[in-house]
Amino acid sequence: MPLEILLILLILLQYTFIMKHLNVDVGLIGFGTVGSGLAEVLLSQQERLQQRSGLLVRLTKVAARSAKELPARFAGIALTNDATEVINDPDIDIVVELIGGIEPAKTFVLEAIAAGKHVVTANKALLSQEGKEIFAAAAAKGVEVGFEASVGGGIPLIKGLKEGLVANNILSIMGILNGTANYILTRMTDEGSAFADVLKDAQELGFAEADPTYDVEGIDTAHKLAILMTMAYGMNITHKEIVTQGISGIEPIDIDFAREFGCRIKLLAISQNHGEHVEARVHPTMVPNSHLLASISGPYNAVHFSGDMVGNVLFYGQGAGKLPTGSAVAADVMDIARDIAAGSVGRVPSLSYLPEHIQDRGVTPLDQVSCPYYFRITALDKPGVLAAVAEVLSRHSISIESVIQKGREENEPVAIVMQTHTAAESAVSAALAEIDALEAITAPTVKIRMLGEE
Ligand code: HSE
Repeated sequence: MPLEILLILLILLQYTFIMKHLNVDVGLIGFGTVGSGLAEVLLSQQERLQQRSGLLVRLTKVAARSAKELPARFAGIALTNDATEVINDPDIDIVVELIGGIEPAKTFVLEAIAAGKHVVTANKALLSQEGKEIFAAAAAKGVEVGFEASVGGGIPLIKGLKEGLVANNILSIMGILNGTANYILTRMTDEGSAFADVLKDAQELGFAEADPTYDVEGIDTAHKLAILMTMAYGMNITHKEIVTQGISGIEPIDIDFAREFGCRIKLLAISQNHGEHVEARVHPTMVPNSHLLASISGPYNAVHFSGDMVGNVLFYGQGAGKLPTGSAVAADVMDIARDIAAGSVGRVPSLSYLPEHIQDRGVTPLDQVSCPYYFRITALDKPGVLAAVAEVLSRHSISIESVIQKGREENEPVAIVMQTHTAAESAVSAALAEIDALEAITAPTVKIRMLGEE
């Protein structure tokens, strides 16, 4: 072959390669709220994304179980009811999974990885339960898995943690990670309404799902905390190892007393890095009004990290919603597209740590956790009751910070509420068992953990 022809062929080959990598094609499985949000974001921001990356990133195919056709503005995007048509499309570089739940999402994600596709997902349940297998498969295949939208919706906190805080040992994580629960608690606080009434209203207004169990019982928050802990500490952890308690038992009377103590009740994800072992818990928490997390209202999310170099950092924003979450998914798509174009796939490890440095570590048993507590004791208003309660607490080395007693009806129980200094959970459990067995105590004591002094 003459040299000229060989050179032309080489130039053509190089041109095809460059063109292919200036166009990055995306396939989407699931066209619900977040899926349609992604389509909207990629379409409306296409020019800006091109100006910022030099790449034409196109959503070319959508698999949706029930959609018959896509809205007219998405003309040019192929629609199928079969996810494997997205997974096996040779032109698609990135598969976005937005159907949620464990199956068939897990199968689709693993099939996409096996087909050599990069994957983006918002599926916190899947990653917190099956992440180990998914990330191992991706590492073996040399593809990236992006999951910015899985925690904190539109807030760029996964990237912030992975890249912005790369030079820090993360000492603690505290977060309001569920917008539904925060919305309900905010309204209970502002209006003095009962949990069930606000939940019903929230469902009618679209702020809560028809089945709100995951959101109100803290399970969704535990999924998200497990993902953050994996990345922050380089540890294997699933949500099942996280002590989880929801907000369905919170009563307006405790919200009122919290106010008197200068606090608000929030559903918090809390993790402390103790080196050998880490604390991990999700439960309603009394947060002092002076703490930034107390002011996070309505459906908003916020995550507070403490790093050994940077100190305290707070991420705040919309934890759900079509366009905010679509924005986070699009950010992952763009990161991967840039890596493909630059030939730098895997530049930033998906889980922040290299896979060989993600280790098993112990999770602190709950009875070894210490924090200040709020107790609401229901007792007959008789001489000596408070002294008897105080004696039990003192014997268990639990120190009282303040006490309020409200109301006085002859022969009617009253609420004695108290705030303790930092105490051990094991001591608190033992003391409350003794207190509740006292003759004058007429109902089980309500216990709510408080955020410790910083
Ligand atoms: N169900 C979640 C919430 C939104 O209420 O915050 C998605 O993670």
